[in-house]
Amino acid sequence: MSNLTQTTKAGDASGRGSVAGYRVNFPARMRTYTEAEIEAVVNVMRNAEVQTQGDYMRKFEADFKAYIGANHAFAVDNATNALRLAAILCKFEKGDEVIVPGYTFSATAIPFGMTGVKLVFADIDPKRWTIDPKDIEKKITPRTKAVIAVHLLGMPADMPTIMEIAAKHNLRVIEDCAQAPGASIDGKKVGSFGDFGCFSFHGAKNITTLGEGGAITVKSDEDAALLPGLRHNGIRPFPAGRERYWVPAMSNVDIDMENIWPNNFCLGEAQCALASELIKTLDSSTDTTIAQAAKLRAAIADIPELTVAEVPAGVRHIYHQFVLHFNGSAFGKNRNDLLDFLTTEAAVRAIVQYYPLYRYPLFQKLGAGEHNTPVLDDWWDNSFSLPWWIGMSDETLDYLVDSLKAGVATLKGK
Ligand SMILES: Cc1ncc(COP(=O)(O)O)c(C=O)c1O
Repeated sequence: MSNLTQTTKAGDASGRGSVAGYRVNFPARMRTYTEAEIEAVVNVMRNAEVQTQGDYMRKFEADFKAYIGANHAFAVDNATNALRLAAILCKFEKGDEVIVPGYTFSATAIPFGMTGVKLVFADIDPKRWTIDPKDIEKKITPRTKAVIAVHLLGMPADMPTIMEIAAKHNLRVIEDCAQAPGASIDGKKVGSFGDFGCFSFHGAKNITTLGEGGAITVKSDEDAALLPGLRHNGIRPFPAGRERYWVPAMSNVDIDMENIWPNNFCLGEAQCALASELIKTLDSSTDTTIAQAAKLRAAIADIPELTVAEVPAGVRHIYHQFVLHFNGSAFGKNRNDLLDFLTTEAAVRAIVQYYPLYRYPLFQKLGAGEHNTPVLDDWWDNSFSLPWWIGMSDETLDYLVDSLKAGVATLKGK
């Protein structure tokens, strides 16, 4: 055993972030900023009189709507609040149920749980690792009002099938696209299928607007008309061109919904300017990630104990993360044994990301611990994430492959 520490460090107990002594760390961010991106931020700091909700926000919203191919797009301060806005606009009633994948980050479900609906956890597809449409169908009841499809790890969920099911049962569809901007199915981007698409520009995502940020795409004109007021404390303008612009006041406060308090979920101008800049190169940086994933997949294809999600034809998986499943049951070993080897012997700081939601105390305490998800239960206990960022060198990729091979061979006792 080497003397590397397997403990997490103060300030980031997740295992992410650089720790001295590791040959491959799991970085807290996916990529660095280009000079053009830095310039876009500095330009707003230096020159823009309006620092929030101005021309840069409007430009970004037009850019993002065109990029996704959505009917409407709005900048927001994070994906959690994009999901919150979607949950508000679903106008749930007492006793309603929402189907959500058991495997996702907590922020997918919390904004829906907050409305008082019953969260019903669906299983994952054993090959794709996103919500299983067959299990959605099994879990629909007369009280089901919505389904949340999460394009987790960058893999699009099976949206054509989910949209068919939703149409049959009159369900609202929310896409959690936090980990998948630019992912697509037969050329149609995620966030353009459902009623809402919720995007994150958090610091660990493929594009980040200085650590926090997000966007929501909206299908119907009716929902889109309510969004600006919900996003900004109910503010709506009095008619333009008033002779006395100060009469009756600067702006009105109202929304066309009953019993809903609006909030402030706005994104600042510097972040919007940066977001416009970032989406210019999103596809090319994603091509880089896809190429590095292809290399890694090919190099480990001859290790039968390791499995990667199957990417269906026509699907653009953007590889937000590179997750593997390890099956060492034939020789009595599990994922934790492999991570012991990777972290201490190979100095590769692999991590294990979120639990299935129903295992978290918060969801259990709030009465959302019930589940029937056998595929996920078994799969999750043996999956892990390799260190991953955009633009890994061939040398690093080769080292990861060698480490995985050595780890599996050691556990097999060869
Ligand atoms: C799947 C998923 N949904 C939602 C979120 C929430 O995003 P944000 O941090 O922008 O609120 C995240 C962020 O990690 C996520 O991974």
